[in-house]
Amino acid sequence: MLFSQGYQQLPTFDKGAGEHDSFQRKEPRKRRFSLLGIAVIVIIMCASLPRIIRSRGFWAACHGPQRNSSTLAKLPSHYTLPSGDKIPSVALGVWQAGKGEVGSAVTTALKAGYRHIDGAWIYRNEEEVGQALKASSVPREELWLTSKLWNTFHAPEDIEPALDQSLSMLGTDYLDLYLIHWPIAFKKEGANVLDEDLTADPYPTWQKLEELVDKGKIRNIGISNFNIRRIQNLTANKLKYQPAVNQVELNFWNPQPELLKWSKENGLLLEAYSPLGSNTQVGKSLAVPEVKDIASKLGITPAQVIISWSVQRGTIVLPKSVTASRIVENLDVFEIPQEDFEKLEEAAALHPPQRVVNPSNGWKLPFDVFE
Ligand code: A2P
Repeated sequence: MLFSQGYQQLPTFDKGAGEHDSFQRKEPRKRRFSLLGIAVIVIIMCASLPRIIRSRGFWAACHGPQRNSSTLAKLPSHYTLPSGDKIPSVALGVWQAGKGEVGSAVTTALKAGYRHIDGAWIYRNEEEVGQALKASSVPREELWLTSKLWNTFHAPEDIEPALDQSLSMLGTDYLDLYLIHWPIAFKKEGANVLDEDLTADPYPTWQKLEELVDKGKIRNIGISNFNIRRIQNLTANKLKYQPAVNQVELNFWNPQPELLKWSKENGLLLEAYSPLGSNTQVGKSLAVPEVKDIASKLGITPAQVIISWSVQRGTIVLPKSVTASRIVENLDVFEIPQEDFEKLEEAAALHPPQRVVNPSNGWKLPFDVFE
């Protein structure tokens, strides 16, 4: 089609006779040169076509982005905690991974190369996670397992039994990281009855966690959903072990640049939960124009852009998925060129912060947990 169109566009030399005849009869030299010209054009096109097709822009336009791990620099695969332990920068998050699907998600993740699983007692899926870990051939020492102390277990005497439950469900005798899930303590009896004392002062809870580190049941301890004021409230005490991490919601809609800056200045590593905006915002996150542009420019997926951005911001990232192809995709993080990184950072800060997760109303707290 292309060639015949090209041929038809060649000039004719005989106004009176048929085109073909005029070529043969009157202009044999010109015809030879014209055919030579066509041949040269065809050769050039044939030579460049595969290159054009292989090029990322063309490929992305026709088939969506391709993964291009060979040409992009990789981001750090681990961070070092104050204990000296190395924590993998990308984890499989299992919040909202339901029963019957979380086990296969963990199995897929381990096969894909994940070594970090971020869970919690309250996710109600630790048993299935534990079964998948047991069925895998990955040695325990190669794994990084995180769990979290639920709000009803902040009283020092309740902590070890809660930890033991998680350990037993996960089928392990130690955790790599155990976090205070929320800076909110509930009384054991009644639903969501605030324990004002332990909420106002988490130090007794922390001291017990320190004891459990010394006992060998936990390697590192940290916090989750703590704002700066609440962190300082805890660290104003003479801690034996500083919090190793603070796990908070960090995504395009809630990028928290001030908390990130403060945490870096104070040597506290952040972990990003709901990095894609959780199931309610993921579609919107992946459709952000800056995200899409960078994805097609780099030949990676929009999810990989956001996950990479999280690691490049200097945080651990915990994307959740129960879909095999996405689990594999989410582990591949790449360095985003500085100008694109800054574009993303600016775009994320342009709109008012919008959290996916704020249980203050649901728990009927007399305050906002993030204020
Ligand atoms: P699913 O678990 O069905 O694969 P977050 O990590 O911010 O909590 O987001 C989790 C949500 O994002 C889930 O709905 C998950 O769906 C979806 N998700 C995870 N990875 C990807 C991906 N690579 N592409 C598209 N959606 C994804």
